[in-house]
Amino acid sequence: MYAPRVNPSLCSPKQAARIGRTVAPLLAASSTSPCQAYSHGVGVRCTAVFVNQITSPASTQRCFSTTPANRLRDFFPAKETAQIRTTPPAWPHHGYTRAEMLAVVPGHRKPETFGDKFAWYLMRTSRWCMDTVTGMSKEQKSDKKKPTTAVKAERPLTEEQWFVRFIFLESIAGVPGMVAGMLRHLRSLRALKRDNGWIETLLEESYNERMHLLTFMKMCEPGWFMKFIILGAQGVYFNAMFLAYLINPKICHRFVGYLEEEAVHTYTRAIHEIDQGYLPKWTDPKFEVPDIAVTYWMMPEGHRSMKDLILYIRADEAGHRGVNHTLGNLDQKEDPNPFVSQYKDGQKLSPMTNPKGWEREEVL
Ligand SMILES: [Fe+2]
Ligand SMILES: [Fe+2]
Repeated sequence: MYAPRVNPSLCSPKQAARIGRTVAPLLAASSTSPCQAYSHGVGVRCTAVFVNQITSPASTQRCFSTTPANRLRDFFPAKETAQIRTTPPAWPHHGYTRAEMLAVVPGHRKPETFGDKFAWYLMRTSRWCMDTVTGMSKEQKSDKKKPTTAVKAERPLTEEQWFVRFIFLESIAGVPGMVAGMLRHLRSLRALKRDNGWIETLLEESYNERMHLLTFMKMCEPGWFMKFIILGAQGVYFNAMFLAYLINPKICHRFVGYLEEEAVHTYTRAIHEIDQGYLPKWTDPKFEVPDIAVTYWMMPEGHRSMKDLILYIRADEAGHRGVNHTLGNLDQKEDPNPFVSQYKDGQKLSPMTNPKGWEREEVL
């Protein structure tokens, strides 16, 4: 009989014992799984895809069971200490209604100024590089003439290809909010002036993007090549964004607005391919999303499929899209952040509903 062994260097002895106890019945119940795929393209290893609820009455914890035993591990298990029960998110998610998430649509803000065009063509070039590096074939590309809105392609992507795109996209998307928030924070300190509410929104955006990345990382471990690409991209991208934000923050927000258009497009196409039945590993009834996602988005029981998860993430991206396109229209030094402001008539802006963002005169 197979005796499950867990490498104690990957987790605490207590966790190792618990994982060991839970793995045995799972392995016995399912010796094969539809998701033991290993993508060699840019190296992602699909692991924590099927999630089984542990039925211990004292625990709602789950474990991940699809990977062969020698690869079964949680990439970043929560640190267990003698006194801390849990460490909740710094910025709890505000949540969405189902109707709000389903109402999100891909959109595009037509570039008009020189800065808009610069940001747009830079984004197009970045997208082309990502498609090339991640091995997207010609038939898998959607209509070039509608790059951020067309969701149909001759051939769908595989689950592994989607994971590569998600992880690469999210590792990039988490940078600008942190750079912008940091630079505005430093400027506020330096100039001895208020920031008028931008910093928190920008930092929260980068936090939210990181939660997207961590969620995907729970389901898929990048290989060395992917890690190398992420590292290189971050090294270049962070520094470029740092300099660019000092020189022209408006163009940077427009660029992020276009990046978010890409994100909404990516997730919309993934949802479309799930609906079409092209991604069976994600539509398998046994599939459940990781705990980190359930907790962060407060995903209700019965709505924890991959499609549900992508609906939440897409709604977040739609919010970032509206925020950044709007911030790109404002006076960077003087204008307050309309998304945290209280209006005299009581209105509240919902950025996910406006793909093009609001013009300055509409919100001030
Ligand atoms: Fe994201
Ligand atoms: Fe985003």
